[in-house]
Formats: sequence, structure tokens, C-alpha cells
Amino acid sequence: MNDGGPHSVPGAVARAYDVVARTYAELIPTAGRDGDPEDERDLAMVRRFAGSLPSGAAVLDAGCGAGRMITYLDTLAPLAVEGCDISVGMVRQARKAHPQRQFAVTAMSSLPYGDRSFHGVLAWYSIIHTPPAGLPAVFAEFQRILRPGGRLLLGFQAGTGSRQITNAYGHDVELTAYLHDIRETAALLEGAGFQVCEYLFRAPTAAERSAQGFIRARKAEELTRGRKPVW
Ligand SMILES: C[S@@+](CC[C@H](N)C(=O)[O-])C[C@H]1O[C@@H](n2cnc3c(N)ncnc32)[C@H](O)[C@@H]1O
Repeated sequence: MNDGGPHSVPGAVARAYDVVARTYAELIPTAGRDGDPEDERDLAMVRRFAGSLPSGAAVLDAGCGAGRMITYLDTLAPLAVEGCDISVGMVRQARKAHPQRQFAVTAMSSLPYGDRSFHGVLAWYSIIHTPPAGLPAVFAEFQRILRPGGRLLLGFQAGTGSRQITNAYGHDVELTAYLHDIRETAALLEGAGFQVCEYLFRAPTAAERSAQGFIRARKAEELTRGRKPVW
């Protein structure tokens, strides 16, 4: 899939994250500590996502990177989290951090999971290298693998346009980062069969270049006559 920018093809994203993987894992192994990128308001969205799931829920961390949000989710609720990422280097780090978990190396637009496999999908800053035109394919996969009533949480840099990244975590890379308009992204989710439960659009902190966007959504229940929702 060529999704728009010169460095946004999955191969380029995977190569860039392969290069930074070990440093990324060392610098930001979890969330919620002093100096971590997330604002308290961002983490509150993650807590509400976790709180909306049944105990033991199957959750996919889509674009899990080195697994830091799995480490954070583990502090919140008993969840059966697995991860996937396009970068084999990131997945290697995630496996090291969570040897008991399942991981797959895959693009989010083509997931190796069955229909209705998960109660929840977290995509935390993993749609940021997909241009808006590439999002419907990703959201269709999230919709397919979620159970009816299943929950989705997106975190991303909010706005419009893109920028080229040539250095990340002290490494030379060639990568495109896309900002996503929060209303357009919410509309794409609705077009994919999600209902938006809550969103947060916040101004950048001193450490950030752009506004941040978070959308919590649920897959619409199937209202087939005589059939009850799964949960
Ligand atoms: C900024 S990192 C965030 C990682 C992790 N969610 C976190 O919060 O630390 C973005 C991650 O998304 C992955 N990624 C980007 N585009 C992807 C795609 N189309 N399919 C799967 N993974 C993708 C990258 O390889 C990278 O590990």
C-alpha cells in the first residue's frame, strides 16, 4: 500500500522504527511517570477505555511499539492484551518486555486475526504515519476484529498536514508523520460503523509541537432480531 508520502509506505515506517526500537524501549518503557510523553488527561482516556472493558477482556494494542502501553494497561485492569506492530524491531522489544504475551508483525490495514476476536483495540499514536486517506482501511480492520459493542481508543497528533522526520531518538530516519483532524477522524470512524463515545482535543503542552487528539468509540451492536449482544 502506498499511502501518500514518500516515507509513509509501510516498509519505510518499519525501517525507521527498527532503527529506533532499542532506544525507544529504553527511554520510554511505560506511561504515567515523570517525563513520559502523556499528559494526565490523555492517560485518563486510557483508564476510561480500560474501565469500559469486562474483566479478562481480549485487547489488541495495535501499533504496540515496544509494548509500553501494555505495561500501563497491566496496572489498570486484568486484561488479556496482545500486540501487533509493523516493525519487527519494535515487536522484538515488546516480546522482551512481555514474554508471556502474543505479538504479531503486521500492518494495521491487514490484521491476522479472526472476525470479532477482541473486546478492545488501543491504537496509541500508531495511526500517525498513515495519511487520512489510509485510515478507512485501518478502521475497517478494527471494526472487523472487534466484537459487537467492542471498544476502540485512538491517540494521535491533531491537526492537518504532515511533516518529515529525519531524526528520532538520536537516530537518522526517513519518516512522515501525519496530523489528523479530530472531526474528520471521528466521521471516518462513524463511516466504519463506530459510535463515538468521547473525544478530547487539547492544546499542545510546552514539550509538544501540535495539539493532541483522542477518540474513544464503540462498535455498534448488532441489532439482529432474536440475537443478544455478546456483552
Ligand atoms: C509512535 S510509536 C507508538 C508505539 C506505542 N503505541 C507507544 O505508545 O509507545 C508508533 C508505532 O506504530 C507502528 N506503526 C505505524 N504505522 C503502522 C501500521 N500501518 N501498522 C502497524 N504498525 C504501525 C510503528 O512501527 C511504531 O511502533
